[in-house]
Amino acid sequence: MKKESSFIFKTIPYSLYTDPEVLKVEQELIFKKTWQIIGHENDIKNPGDFITCEVAGEPIVVVRDEDQIVRAFYNVCPHRATRLENNEAGNKKILQCSYHGWTFHLNGKLHRAPNFKDNPCFCSDEITLKSIRCEVEGSLVFVNLDPHAPSLYDTYKDFFEDFKQFNFHNDLKQYNERVREIKCNWKAFIDNYLECDHCPIAHPGFTATLDMNKYQIINQSNCSVQGTQVKENPGKQSLSLDMQTVEVKEGRFYWLWPNTMITVYPGPGNISIIKMLPVDHEATRGIYQVYFKGGEPTPEQETLLAFADQVRMEDVVIVEREQIGFRSEAFKEGILSPTEHGVLYFHNLIRESLLIKGNDFLVNR
Ligand code: FES
Ligand SMILES: [Fe+2]
Repeated sequence: MKKESSFIFKTIPYSLYTDPEVLKVEQELIFKKTWQIIGHENDIKNPGDFITCEVAGEPIVVVRDEDQIVRAFYNVCPHRATRLENNEAGNKKILQCSYHGWTFHLNGKLHRAPNFKDNPCFCSDEITLKSIRCEVEGSLVFVNLDPHAPSLYDTYKDFFEDFKQFNFHNDLKQYNERVREIKCNWKAFIDNYLECDHCPIAHPGFTATLDMNKYQIINQSNCSVQGTQVKENPGKQSLSLDMQTVEVKEGRFYWLWPNTMITVYPGPGNISIIKMLPVDHEATRGIYQVYFKGGEPTPEQETLLAFADQVRMEDVVIVEREQIGFRSEAFKEGILSPTEHGVLYFHNLIRESLLIKGNDFLVNR
């Protein structure tokens, strides 16, 4: 009997996970053009609080000014290029370059240039740190190296509208940050996050807690949301929750193109920010920042933290095994199931960004 015709979707080619040249193109065409999350507004709560980081290889400093505005600059001295601020975070009234001592106000304007003190040709008013786009929505701080990019809200409108329901988002305080070097291309970790076909095999504790029959993954514009409710009768390995007191009864897992994930676990008010930063074509730095409502964690929050970390470690093991297979000559690309539509959306954005033409990834069978 003739099978009904259906479409099978293929992944992007595996060479995109193993070729150092591809990462160079991604830095230009993806990371220099998209919103990159810095953290939560409360990480830089007071005037003078700053965070430094790298975006697409560029040193960046994000600082809260005296007027409470959060601004971002290339972390580079206008005099002779030295990296200006060298601490990861802190509080300063003024930023000082460690080379010739030029100093800058928190709004980026030059304060003093000691080696130009008596030079009449030197117009200090014209000298500032070079600023970059920095916007805050839903208490989350992002930067973008592209001056022409659409606004943060317009880019992830669906996410911000949905995220509003967690009305504790401005009361959150960072509880901890974990950094993990993962031996995989950055896209492998995103792929893994965007489907839950692997959950029953890889995450028994997760599937014991959440109702997988109601699990949904919804692609939206430049983002996606996935989640379900807590099971009424959770299994043995589940996260134990007092359902009368928890603030979040539904787990929610957001992804923001290209490399940001925001998770809200069932339980007390919480979010985790997960950033996947490429170190090289086969190594990724995963930064996991956990935020809880209130100060010291309750025993329930401690349990939640251990649960979330276990799920993450289970994913790390899987994606590192996948990277080994990407290098093999056995296959050139993979096949996506209909429930891996989140991965398909991500791969289509990759294809679009890298200007991969044609639809040879679609096979009519
Ligand atoms: S390079 Fe910064 S003061 Fe000279
Ligand atoms: Fe997973």
